Amino acid sequence: MQQIKFQTTSVPALGIGTWHMGEQPQQRPAELQALRYGLDHGLTVIDTAEMYGAGRSESLVGEAIQPYQREKLFLISKFYPQNATKKRMRQSLTASLQRLGTDYLDLYLLHWRGGVPLSETVAGLMELQQAGKIRHWGVSNFDQVDLLELQQLNGAPYLAANEDLYNLGERGVEFDVLPWQQQRQIPFIAYSPVAQGDVRGYLTNNATVKAIAATHQLSTHQLLLAWVLHQPGLLAIPQTSDWHHMQANIAAAEISLTPAELAALDREFPAPTRKQPLAII
Ligand SMILES: NC(=O)c1ccc[n+]([C@@H]2O[C@H](COP(=O)([O-])OP(=O)(O)OC[C@H]3O[C@@H](n4cnc5c(N)ncnc54)[C@H](OP(=O)(O)O)[C@@H]3O)[C@@H](O)[C@H]2O)c1
Repeated sequence: MQQIKFQTTSVPALGIGTWHMGEQPQQRPAELQALRYGLDHGLTVIDTAEMYGAGRSESLVGEAIQPYQREKLFLISKFYPQNATKKRMRQSLTASLQRLGTDYLDLYLLHWRGGVPLSETVAGLMELQQAGKIRHWGVSNFDQVDLLELQQLNGAPYLAANEDLYNLGERGVEFDVLPWQQQRQIPFIAYSPVAQGDVRGYLTNNATVKAIAATHQLSTHQLLLAWVLHQPGLLAIPQTSDWHHMQANIAAAEISLTPAELAALDREFPAPTRKQPLAII
């Protein structure tokens, strides 16, 4: 599997998303099984947030990782924009660490931009980093204009990642944000890489998607994931509560699509030719 470098730390380019997990007690055994299947088969990155299930996702992750060596994992969490002041960020982090059962995060992200000045947020993150509470910090749902603003601030060279929505049906970031990050070797974390399961079938019912998936003996969801992962410098974090899907996603991360297959998918779902509003969910 391809590796992604967060400054000094290398991780597999496939990570684990956890939105909507930990919310229903009857789902917990299956969720733990899915998460641990991933961890047992080479995945090390888990993405969560204080928002997810009002902390219940972090608690689930905390339980899932208990039997594993902490230093082998790369834990990402996020704080709400209203908690982006120095004081509130520290309180949020303390609560997240408690739920996760750890004393540090590998990456701490501002979940999206709010009213707190970015300079204060960055200063707060730098303090947490210097105190050893977080190893890296970054942002999420930042558009090009936000990244350019961030670049002007003290501490900007330490920006470790930006996490945005990206999948075959939502390619807007390819116009600006993604190449900007790739050129600077700032990992791009792709959320919703399988289009939230593509329940309406916009992508997975497409004949070209189906045909290319069949060629590789993949499901259409696996193909969507393999497609996202063809981008260099990108970490994809699909979410699944089903260990079979976790297994399928790990297998998809080993697939390389040919230039002809990528071109055929481009014809169906074209890359942007002009700036598009940042897709956010
Ligand atoms: N920073 C942000 O603002 C932000 C926003 C959204 C998401 N995220 C993060 O990104 C993660 C992923 O995004 P997401 O959860 O929105 O969407 P996603 O990963 O694109 O899709 C998740 C859905 O796809 C299904 N799925 C996954 N693998 C599958 C497979 N191999 N075959 C069939 N179905 C499959 C899952 O169902 P099953 O459980 O049945 O497999 C689930 O319903 C989140 O969990 C979260 O950690 C971050």
